[in-house]
This record gives sequence, C-alpha cells and structure tokens, in this order.
Amino acid sequence: MNILHLDASASKHAESHTRRLSARLVDQLTAANDAATVVYHDLADMKLPHIDTTIRDAWAPEGERDASLEELATRSKTLVTELQAADTIIVGSPMYNFSVPSTLKAWIDHVAIAGQTFRYTDSGPEGLLADKKAYLILSSGGVYSEGPAASSDHLDTYLRTVLAFLGVTDITTIRAEGVAYGPEQEEAAMQQAYSQIQAL
Ligand SMILES: Cc1cc2nc3c(=O)[nH]c(=O)nc-3n(C[C@H](O)[C@H](O)[C@H](O)COP(=O)(O)O)c2cc1C
Repeated sequence: MNILHLDASASKHAESHTRRLSARLVDQLTAANDAATVVYHDLADMKLPHIDTTIRDAWAPEGERDASLEELATRSKTLVTELQAADTIIVGSPMYNFSVPSTLKAWIDHVAIAGQTFRYTDSGPEGLLADKKAYLILSSGGVYSEGPAASSDHLDTYLRTVLAFLGVTDITTIRAEGVAYGPEQEEAAMQQAYSQIQAL
C-alpha cells in the first residue's frame, strides 16, 4: 500500500479537525499494513505557488524547455509522480468559503496535467489514474451533506469531480460537520467521524 496523505487545514494539528482525523486514518491503515509507505504533504506549510501558463512549458521535454522553468518542472513532476505511485489517497480538507483551501487548489492545479493524469480523446477527457482509492476527510462549520445548505457544498462535490476527472472513482467521504454549532455538536461530529474511520 502506497499512501499519499495531504492535509490542507491552516490550523495546527491539535486544533484541526481534519488533521486529527486524517492522521487517525493513516495510523489505522499503516498499522494494518506493515509494508505501507506514506508520502505526506502539509499543503498549508508547503505553500505551492499559483500556477501560470508556464506550467505547460515546464512539461516540455528536457532540452526543449527554458532553464528558468527547471524548478517548476521538477516540482510539478514530483507531485504527479507521487500521485501516480499512490494506490491510496487521503485528503484532509476543511471547507473554506464553501470549497477547498486555496493551498489544496494549488496542488490540484499542479497535478491535473494533460497527458500525465488525464488526456483528451475523441470522445472527451479520460482520467489516467486507475485503480486508486481516495478518502476525503472533510470538516465544516455548517452542515452540507444534507439540508438547506447542501447545494452550497463545493467541497465534497468539487473534490469528487476533480478525482473522477483524473480517473479516481472509488471515493469515501468522512465528514465532521456542524462543528461551529457548539462544543457538543463539535464533539459529536468528531466522534462520529472517528467511528466511521474505525469501521472502514
Ligand atoms: C477561512 C475560513 C473559511 C471558512 N469557510 C467556511 C464555510 O464556507 N462554511 C463552513 O461551514 N465553515 C467554514 N469555515 C469553518 C471550517 O470549515 C471549520 O472550522 C472546519 O472544521 C475547519 O477544519 P480544520 O479544523 O481541520 O481546520 C471556515 C473557516 C475558515 C478558517
């Protein structure tokens, strides 16, 4: 098992719902698989730059690209290689303004590369990441899995859309939601999420 573990919360581990939950899942999976490897990125710490159109040029064959693009090329290729090598993808992400933190969006922009993780065919785009399992460990102040705010959820739906576009369709979401509704609801949401992880 090769795990790619991403955390996108801007909060430190002890205060972060998603960091604590994603770490629990990684611990559980590695405890059950002696040979498991883990590549971890703290995206809040990593501070990937926003991409610009040079990312296309950076993927040009070596020798054909400008020397100034080496750093960008190395970074993007490393991130794509890690994603290709993973059979298990664990994304810990809070909801920020109804969607993913921009640090996670930046990672997505670095790995969604035509010809590498997806390709265009005569019948439309095709994801190139086959045989992978993804776990989305999500948290939000409000409740979006059901009820009046469900149509405002651009977190779970967005991540599922992106992953499916890249070919990852086996996706399990675990959410601690409504954590802003008071300490009792927060505790209940965390315990429910921990229980869901334990039951996996
Ligand atoms: C910048 C920012 C934006 C947020 N936007 C939303 C939001 O749109 N909807 C929501 O329900 N909660 C929102 N929240 C609350 C977080 O989603 C919630 O506290 C979540 O548990 C944070 O996860 P974490 O503890 O792992 O960082 C926001 C929090 C921050 C810091």
